[in-house]
Amino acid sequence: MEEDLLHQAYDPETFRKEGQQLINQLSEYLKETLSGYGPVLNYSDPKEQLELWKKDVSESGSGVDTANILKHITRVHHPRYMGHQVAPPLPVASLMALLGGFLNNGMAVYEMGMAPTAMEHLITGWLCRKVGYSSSARGILTSGGTLANLTALLSARRNGVAEDIWNRGYSGGLAILVSEAAHYCVDRAARIMGLGEAGVLKVPVLENFSMDTSKLPGIYEAARQKGLTPFAIVGSAPCTATGSYDHLEALADFAEENDLWFHVDGAHGGPAVLSEKYKFLVQGIQRADSVVIDGHKMMGMPVITTALLFSDGATSYNTFSQEAEYLLADTVEEDWSNGAKRTFECTKLTSSLTWYAVLKQYGEPIFEAFLNRQYDLARSFSDLIRERPNWELACEPQSNILCFRWAPLGIPSGGLDEINENIRKKALEEGRFYIVQTRLKGTLYLRTSLMNPFTGTAHLSELLTYLETLGQVFLGNE
Ligand SMILES: Cc1ncc(COP(=O)(O)O)c(C=O)c1O
Repeated sequence: MEEDLLHQAYDPETFRKEGQQLINQLSEYLKETLSGYGPVLNYSDPKEQLELWKKDVSESGSGVDTANILKHITRVHHPRYMGHQVAPPLPVASLMALLGGFLNNGMAVYEMGMAPTAMEHLITGWLCRKVGYSSSARGILTSGGTLANLTALLSARRNGVAEDIWNRGYSGGLAILVSEAAHYCVDRAARIMGLGEAGVLKVPVLENFSMDTSKLPGIYEAARQKGLTPFAIVGSAPCTATGSYDHLEALADFAEENDLWFHVDGAHGGPAVLSEKYKFLVQGIQRADSVVIDGHKMMGMPVITTALLFSDGATSYNTFSQEAEYLLADTVEEDWSNGAKRTFECTKLTSSLTWYAVLKQYGEPIFEAFLNRQYDLARSFSDLIRERPNWELACEPQSNILCFRWAPLGIPSGGLDEINENIRKKALEEGRFYIVQTRLKGTLYLRTSLMNPFTGTAHLSELLTYLETLGQVFLGNE
């Protein structure tokens, strides 16, 4: 009986039939969704979803109802999807994720992922060159910007602090400098490393939400006087909420003057290094000791794959090792092919397959074309917002992220927060568009990340009209 069940579960013909059905279903989904047909999501609350799937899973053996799954997800391929920063993955990359999941090579040691390991080496090498690093740079792929930022900060401490914390433990007194607008995972990484609240020196931001670098010397000196030793500075390229880039050249200067490790969190907008038009935004990135770039945000990869790059490859080998290796000596053969030595993960995704497929199929230009289009679109959207009465921008967009709010005259500021919150809630429930919200300096803003290459200005005009209609309803005018 058990034998039968296992044979049935691995039956190649069943796999062929179900696989073909799934691909057919997804092709139809793609056609329909890209055309903008139907809602972006059919929102239902967590309790409802739980009940639905509790019932479904209790009907064991009745087959997987993929059609029903497709009804209860958020359609990132939809041109009216403008919410969180995940890419509508390039279909060829999604196929590679399926291939990786099927083969299940665990990557912890070379022979458990020979082709993907070689691809990872080539892809991270290519990205290092695009960042502007020299031939001593090396990179790895890991699962997400959060983990990559933590890994980079661990490397920063391992390589930049004389105390042997990796072997002996931490006795306190270290700190990092980071913008108050940086993604929360940097703060979280520092706390995981034991730095505590006092060890995260938050630098205020300018009106455009990029780090106010004029504040750096004062914050640094005050920390030193309190007995803290800053060892790293983190630049956001860009920060998450408003998509504003820090002035990386100024951060690099400050890092150099004070002997700090300079890390750039380019999870979202690091791929600007591939754009002739927008690479001015990341000027100075080549001076960073480490850089993070997510594949699943602005590079069209499925969740989840992140490149962590080191300007000096030797530092990446030190992060998790008992003995510090100071050089990649010419005489010692570099152990690039056993990736687990340099990543937090033991078993990890073969996500290099997705990067490989996109590069092989479409070449480098696809990344530049996508980034340019989306960044241009955000600038057109800000024009549309400025042209309309009663709309306010939080700041001019630097990337493809834009924060704005409806601000009809005569309503006190707290009231505007409530109206915009209600607008966003109603929009979520109706599912015609998917946008999110954020709080900036205490004020609530609506927020869009223009992630979809099929979103156009017509969709954005329609969005503003739609949101305004919802707002009028809350004001009791309709
Ligand atoms: C600037 C920045 N850094 C880090 C992260 C976290 O990356 P991940 O979601 O890949 O863990 C994000 C996510 O939005 C981000 O915007």
